[in-house]
Amino acid sequence: MSVAVVVGLQWGDEGKGKVVDILSRHADAVVRFQGGANAGHTVVVGGEKYVLHLIPSGVLNGRSVCIIGSGVVIDPKELVEEIRFLQEKGFLKDDSRLKIDLRAHLVFPYHKEIDRLREEKRSEKIGTTLRGIGPAYEDKVGRCGIRFADILDKDILKSRLSQVLPEKNEYITKVLGGRPVDFYRILDEYTAYGEMLSRYAIDTNTLIDGMIRDERHVLFEGAQGSGLDIDFGTYPFVTSSSTISAAATGRIWGSNIEVLGVTKAYTTRVGHGPLPTEEKGRFGDEIRAKGGEFGATTGRARRCGWLDLVMLKYYSKINGVTSLAITKLDVLSGINPIKVCVGYRLGGRELDYLPATSNEAFEVEPVYREMEGWDKIEGVRDVSYLPIEAKRYLDMISSYLDLPIALVSTGYDRSDVIVLKNIFNLK
Ligand code: GDP
Ligand code: IMO
Ligand code: MG
Repeated sequence: MSVAVVVGLQWGDEGKGKVVDILSRHADAVVRFQGGANAGHTVVVGGEKYVLHLIPSGVLNGRSVCIIGSGVVIDPKELVEEIRFLQEKGFLKDDSRLKIDLRAHLVFPYHKEIDRLREEKRSEKIGTTLRGIGPAYEDKVGRCGIRFADILDKDILKSRLSQVLPEKNEYITKVLGGRPVDFYRILDEYTAYGEMLSRYAIDTNTLIDGMIRDERHVLFEGAQGSGLDIDFGTYPFVTSSSTISAAATGRIWGSNIEVLGVTKAYTTRVGHGPLPTEEKGRFGDEIRAKGGEFGATTGRARRCGWLDLVMLKYYSKINGVTSLAITKLDVLSGINPIKVCVGYRLGGRELDYLPATSNEAFEVEPVYREMEGWDKIEGVRDVSYLPIEAKRYLDMISSYLDLPIALVSTGYDRSDVIVLKNIFNLK
């Protein structure tokens, strides 16, 4: 198996960063393929916490090439800061370890301004990360985006900006009531980013293709989660990219691909939108406190609830998941009984799928099964040390989804993990 894709099966923050960090020990390349700096992927190494927004989580292992692929929308300001931070910490000293695709679109200050002003005005808010993600993807699809290759040449950038900016400023000032963005300020700032980042610029698709042909290990790192996918998520409370595995495997690499679906042992969501198993009372507060459920990018409190097997089943199928990574099992310790959603009720009907409209998804009532809890499992690294109740919980998830479990995470540190499946010779 030379290609593996890590995707979130919930509403983001499933622990993808930690899982990618673990797998990347044996990966030759780690590729971010969509999303932007709305992502916040946490890796804890020896008590030190790193939150990555644009650079693949493989960067901390000192081995794999880190690729920011053509489907990502890059905010170069954030990227330059992230590179600087990592270099100060002793990572990324070797420039050849980072590659940025020439085709990747860029986030500009006007995207962030539009994101902010629209969010302010909306009566039914999405609760975006205000990172300009939606407006940047809109421009890409509307064929008026500016790409990484364009900032490598000041004349090209000037010409692209002069086509785009007047319309943006018109929209910002006249429709949204905001302040215009200055042409020369952006031109100078983005030309400087182009100079700083040019050493990383390549056509990454050729590199990835060659590596896969040579049967080297390539790991794709999904951002956000399937519930936030533009097509399959709880629209309109979604992000603006395709977050599912197909967005990574957009060309034919054969069927021999491991798709690792990541889920917490419970459910969280940050931002607005349906969350059928949400618990606003004591359980929610307890999980938020024990699990540190505050957004890695925005610091917002995450909404918490029980594990939802109905949505997990739906998204496992959409992603073609071949195995599961279950994170934060330790956080459920001490909770008894534990509830798990195995169906929905809607207007007297029983459903075993997630409704297509958010209106209906807001209305569904979860049908729960209760399981016995366990006392303490933090830091367990061998499955034989798990209490029988925790094993039963895992078996129940695996059998409901008809999928094997590859990894179980039992603490935030890189080393708190039980490895059950040999992905990239991990075992
Ligand atoms: P991502 O966006 O999917 O990479 O996930 P985030 O990094 O946004 O959020 C996951 C949070 O849970 C981070 O703070 C991780 O350090 C933490 N985490 C990951 N796995 C575990 C685990 O098994 N147990 C505990 N207690 N924390 C974990
Ligand atoms: P990672 O990769 C959790 C959510 C926002 C909002 C919606 C749209 O860390 O799992 P956007 O800024 O993308 O237009 O916001 O999507 N969101 C995330 N929630 N984890 C993420 O990324 C997210 N990225 C976006 O909170 O509800
Ligand atoms: Mg996150």
